[in-house]
Amino acid sequence: MTDSTRRRFLALATAALAGVGVAGCSIVRGNGTSDASGPSTVASPLDESRTLVAYFSVPETDDPNDMTEEEAGSTHVVDGKVLGNTQYVAQLIEGRIGADVFRIETAEELPLDHGRLEDLARELQDADARPKLKALIPNLEEYDTVFIGYPIWWYDLPMPVYTFLEEHDFSGKNIVLFSTHGGNGLSGTVETVTEKLADSTVISNAFTVLRDDMGSAEAEVGDWLDNLS
Ligand SMILES: Cc1cc2nc3c(=O)[nH]c(=O)nc-3n(C[C@H](O)[C@H](O)[C@H](O)COP(=O)(O)O)c2cc1C
Repeated sequence: MTDSTRRRFLALATAALAGVGVAGCSIVRGNGTSDASGPSTVASPLDESRTLVAYFSVPETDDPNDMTEEEAGSTHVVDGKVLGNTQYVAQLIEGRIGADVFRIETAEELPLDHGRLEDLARELQDADARPKLKALIPNLEEYDTVFIGYPIWWYDLPMPVYTFLEEHDFSGKNIVLFSTHGGNGLSGTVETVTEKLADSTVISNAFTVLRDDMGSAEAEVGDWLDNLS
């Protein structure tokens, strides 16, 4: 990152820490409410510094009781509610910076059974498929910084995340990546995203956490965010 890019990102991140909310359907505002009214038409001087946390996550069960080992590995339970690992990290980031949140979902529901999900993910990857998404970010122009979170699937980004990257215009935006994994770390995904989003500033300091270490994710996310700003 050049000095001027770094200065710009730091200014944006600092403004984002002020926790500015924004309207827009499919977006959950930083204050936890959903907004179905469409993008705001009132421009505020802080519009340019708004931050969005987008994530893809597939918790393999919604039942906190009686989980298989695989289901427990793919989830983190908070106050009795089952979250996907990446979903949990997205919530930690949102909680720290007060950003809006967008969940990346496929139009067709994915299987929750671990084996079937693995097989489907493999098939999608082998076919270099771009699964259709349920929705796109309706008000992307209102954000300058977009956090993008995903689990590692077969040593790569999940194919729905490729769809997400290709169906939005992220040019000129700051992109901050975070991920969860089962042992393979970031698996070269920062380089992949940097190559795909050549007109964006992809921050090289991406966050990743092993699914077995979700208990320490809160502290680690805090340290990471402190180092970003
Ligand atoms: C289809 C599939 C493929 C996976 N492939 C890998 C992999 O190649 N490397 C790895 O470290 N973890 C892999 N994992 C483990 C996930 O990255 C890990 O469980 C992650 O925390 C799941 O996040 P989520 O609950 O937000 O979906 C895979 C999981 C699934 C379901």
